[in-house]
Amino acid sequence: MFSSHLVSLLYGLYALPALATVTTRADGCNLPANYSTIDTRSLPNPWRFSDGRPVTTAADFSCRQAEMSQILQRFELGDFPPPPDALTATLNGTTMKLSIQVGNHTKLVTATITPPANGEIPTGGSPAFVALGGLSIPLHPSVGKIIFANDACAEQSGQSSRGKGWFFDLHGGRSHSAGALLAWAWCAGRIIDGLEQLGASQTGIDHQKLGVSGCSRNGKGALVVGAFERRFALTVPQESGAGGTACWRILDDEASKAPRRFEPGMGGPPTAESVVADSVWFSRRWEAYARKVGVVPADHHFLAAMIAPRGLLVLENNIDWLSPVGTTGCMKAARAIYGELGVKMNMGFSLMGGHGHCQFPNATAADLESFVDRFLLGTVGRANDVEVSPVAVSSSWWSSWSAAPNITL
Ligand SMILES: *[C@@H]1O[C@H](CO)[C@@H](O)[C@H](O)[C@H]1NC(C)=O
Ligand SMILES: *[C@@H]1O[C@H](CO)[C@@H](O)[C@H](O)[C@H]1NC(C)=O
Ligand SMILES: *[C@@H]1O[C@H](CO)[C@@H](O)[C@H](O)[C@H]1NC(C)=O
Ligand SMILES: *[C@@H]1O[C@H](CO)[C@@H](O)[C@H](O)[C@H]1NC(C)=O
Repeated sequence: MFSSHLVSLLYGLYALPALATVTTRADGCNLPANYSTIDTRSLPNPWRFSDGRPVTTAADFSCRQAEMSQILQRFELGDFPPPPDALTATLNGTTMKLSIQVGNHTKLVTATITPPANGEIPTGGSPAFVALGGLSIPLHPSVGKIIFANDACAEQSGQSSRGKGWFFDLHGGRSHSAGALLAWAWCAGRIIDGLEQLGASQTGIDHQKLGVSGCSRNGKGALVVGAFERRFALTVPQESGAGGTACWRILDDEASKAPRRFEPGMGGPPTAESVVADSVWFSRRWEAYARKVGVVPADHHFLAAMIAPRGLLVLENNIDWLSPVGTTGCMKAARAIYGELGVKMNMGFSLMGGHGHCQFPNATAADLESFVDRFLLGTVGRANDVEVSPVAVSSSWWSSWSAAPNITL
């Protein structure tokens, strides 16, 4: 806690001089103070820094990930705050209570820990899924569960829910730039803080073997949580669709070819604009770009790239309003990134139709289990090679990324 606070303090000091055009962060990355807009129909290139320099080493890629994070914060998600000034965790039975302090604000938050169904807790604790709202994937009997009540952290219903919840209470109220997805990522990190502080001997959970999952709106959340909170070993966003694992550029391209205009609740192809109109997932900053997504120097394949080389299994459904083309194209591009990093099997993409929204198809059970075995239980050396989709998408969305580096993470 102390050291990460120190890092954020140093970062704050480095960032202070307004004249500097480059910010040297504590991790040694020289990041620009701001990012220009671009104009590309295809997905932005992960192998070039925003100033055009090629990404050639593992250290470069880690700095490019920091850049992706900054760009996504500035254009669509809002600012990701540093860790809290203080956090105290206590445990009563299976209820973990967190007292979280930021500046002169303090909030009390609780989370319930459900031990693995088989009742066996290894010495170092058992793995667990942190579930946004609830879990709609089958839970392995050796894996525990912690429900993260993300709506209490940041409400996400109609437009009037913007800026409500304990994240905003801690960070100065409605004026904070974060949308709900980014707020959820910060709050989920506090659950890990609590698990770390109490330790496996008290919680029964191994805080280094955590997965995060959620479905639909909570699937968008799970993706952003996994991208911004690097302590999650496995991320399983389920049916997150438009605004989640779909790329904005592909969504809008599909919608431009379709006859019907999107009307909330009426079906029709989703667009960046309709997703913004729908809810408070994103920062207010995104409103300026939702009608011209081609100028943004990022897209949602970067959220997946931020998770690399950690485990990522993306589950989607063949339902129009989830944008099967958008999710397939975006996640194939992301899988190409994992592939160039030499860790293709660490990311899987499975789009299965023929079932209701958020109903887990049993045909995916073996693939999910292989990711749980690999990243949470550690019982196998690699996960299944998963790339399943009935949808064909042109590789022109990502084929312009020539000169991929030869990096091994
Ligand atoms: C940062 O860049 C964005 C878009 O590229 C621009 O709209 C904004 O004015 C810039 N901010 C500053 C402080 O220069
Ligand atoms: C622990 O929880 C039990 C049951 O809810 C409650 O009766 C008890 O007062 C709690 N103990 C503490 C120290 O909060
Ligand atoms: C909390 O801190 C803020 C900023 O430092 C200050 O403006 C505000 O007055 C403080 N509120 C209280 C209740 O002390
Ligand atoms: C579901 O899939 C698993 C793993 O492939 C298999 O063992 C099981 O028999 C299947 N269950 C049903 C009900 O089809």
